[in-house]
Amino acid sequence: MNFIPYGKQLLTDDDIESVVDVLHSDYLTTGPSVSAFEDALSDYCNVKYAIAVANGTAALHLASLVLLNRNDKVLTTPNSFLATSNAILYAGATPVFIDIAKDGNIDLDLCEEALKKDSTIKALYGVAFSGRILDQEKLKHLKETYGIVILEDCAHAIGAKEGLIKAASCTNSDVSILSFHPVKHMTTGEGGAITTNSKELYEKMLMLRGHGMVKTPDMKPWEYEMRELGFNYRITDMQCALGLSQLKKLDQFIERRIELVKVYDDAFIDSIVKPLYTYDGKSSYHLYVVQVEFSKLNITKEDLFNLLREKSIGIQLHYIPINKQPYYKGLGYGNEVTPVMDKYYDECFSLPMFPKLSDEEQAYTIKQLLEILDV
Ligand SMILES: Cc1ncc(COP(=O)(O)O)c(C=O)c1O
Repeated sequence: MNFIPYGKQLLTDDDIESVVDVLHSDYLTTGPSVSAFEDALSDYCNVKYAIAVANGTAALHLASLVLLNRNDKVLTTPNSFLATSNAILYAGATPVFIDIAKDGNIDLDLCEEALKKDSTIKALYGVAFSGRILDQEKLKHLKETYGIVILEDCAHAIGAKEGLIKAASCTNSDVSILSFHPVKHMTTGEGGAITTNSKELYEKMLMLRGHGMVKTPDMKPWEYEMRELGFNYRITDMQCALGLSQLKKLDQFIERRIELVKVYDDAFIDSIVKPLYTYDGKSSYHLYVVQVEFSKLNITKEDLFNLLREKSIGIQLHYIPINKQPYYKGLGYGNEVTPVMDKYYDECFSLPMFPKLSDEEQAYTIKQLLEILDV
């Protein structure tokens, strides 16, 4: 059996041709494919504006510069990739880590408790973890009641929906971000995007993507003005051509993911392998996370990782709590009371989940896992 990773891109000849076409064209960067990709993304996500950028971290950085002020307190989750809370630090603001709920997303009820106790909290950075969209009613309630700024990190969740509300539509948030890293639902190599319904935020972030520079029709032909300290977070036309081609197939990719989810769900019924949540239509399943109570078994999580690797299966862990990372400990974090996250971290791991995973590879993964756990 070839090595089976937890996630992987699916590229076909049409994707490759779309990139080659750009290489034969006049524009390699900031050409027609960038705006076409942005239009296609805003259509798909049902949002007014999309800005394609170099990666999801750049998207978070730009969003944080327009949403936050220095020293703002921002509620966020320990269960994410580092970039989510790092972006809060980039803006000179202060992350406040809140425990997760049973589905791996930030516990929005605990967020409300924190907001009740501390009226100086300015913002909430939630992550649609593993592809499961944040509870939209609760987000709406928090935004309306406490007047906070909300960012939805949808790096895992393009294509997810709750009823008619799509991930990254910013229906109940100010800004959302996406990532197109190869392990995600669709890829541009590196790449990301910011979405918003606010013209003002859109224009600011667009300017910051390109050095804070502006060129207007009334200026002399050579003139440009730098109005803010911006960055070069542009994405290339080659990447956006790939993104456009991938986006056309995104719904098929997600359908395949859901087929795989249902097979995993069935395989683990009545077993000690507990899916973080079973299929309910609210996730686009970037990850398929399961939990096992290792404390009740004769095998550790490390043993399981190593034994599965010997069988060519690459399970992964999402995530080490961000607040326990050495850098964050150095800032004084790490002692927050997060019992759900602590238990989750002891027990969780992610199984292979990507559209190219074959039925045979999935059946092999399930068999090996259950055999090693002796169930
Ligand atoms: C939840 C989350 N947010 C942000 C990012 C950052 O995206 P990128 O790797 O494109 O910079 C990632 C990437 O893994 C992620 O998983």
